[in-house]
Amino acid sequence: MKAENGMTATPVQPIVSPFYDRDGITIYCGDARDILPALVFDAILTDPPYPNYKEAEYHYQPDGLECLRAIGCPQAIFWTPCHPFPLDWRGMICWDKAAGNKNSQFEIVYQRNWTTGAKLWRYMTPHNSVRANWCGDVCNEHPSQKPIQLMKKLVAEFGDVRTICDPFCGSGSTLLAAKLAGVAAIGIEVERKWCEIAVQRLRQGVLDFGSEG
Ligand SMILES: C[S@@+](CC[C@H](N)C(=O)[O-])C[C@H]1O[C@@H](n2cnc3c(N)ncnc32)[C@H](O)[C@@H]1O
Repeated sequence: MKAENGMTATPVQPIVSPFYDRDGITIYCGDARDILPALVFDAILTDPPYPNYKEAEYHYQPDGLECLRAIGCPQAIFWTPCHPFPLDWRGMICWDKAAGNKNSQFEIVYQRNWTTGAKLWRYMTPHNSVRANWCGDVCNEHPSQKPIQLMKKLVAEFGDVRTICDPFCGSGSTLLAAKLAGVAAIGIEVERKWCEIAVQRLRQGVLDFGSEG
C-alpha cells in the first residue's frame, strides 16, 4: 500500500504526542528523523539548517536531509546558494530578499518530485519589527523567520493539497501560511522555544495585508 507521502505505508504510531493540535495544524516537538516516518502528508515545504550558518544553534547535521530523500511527494526546500543542494531536484525558485541582508541576499527553494520551472520572487525579510509591519508580517525572535507572503505563495504553488509537512518548522512560518490558506499542516521542531513561538503565532494570526514586500 502506498501512503500519501509516496512511501510504502507502514502502520507506525508517532513516537511523541503532539505539542499542539488545533484547527488542522499539528506540531511535534522532537527530532524530524524520528517523527517523520510515522506521518501522512501530501507535500513538504521546509527550511532546514544548512552548512556554515548557525550550525550549532540550528542542530545542523551533514546528513540532515537524508530523511527526505525517499519521500515521493512534491517538496519545496530552502537552501543556501553557497553550498550544493544534497538531494536530487527538478525545479527552483530563487527568493530575492530585496537587499539589506548581511548574509546571503538570496536563497534557493529547490523543488523535488515536481517542478514549476525556474522563478525569481522578491520578498523582504521580516527581520525587524518596522520592516515586518511594512510587509504585513510580525517579527519574532527566530533568526531565520521567513516572510509570510513568501510562504503563502509557496503553499499556493502546490495546488490542491490537503496536508503540508514542515519537518524543520522553526517559528512556524509554513504552518501559519498553510492555516491562512485553509490547508492542514504538520510541523516538527526540535527546540521547545520555537514550538512555543509557533503556537503563539498560530493563536494570534498575522497582519495580513496581502503585501508583495
Ligand atoms: C532555518 S530554521 C527554520 C525557520 C523557519 N522557516 C521559520 O520561519 O521560523 C531550521 C529549524 O530546524 C530546527 N531543527 C534542526 N534539526 C532538526 C531536527 N532534526 N528535527 C526537527 N527540527 C530540527 C532548528 O531548531 C531550526 O529552528
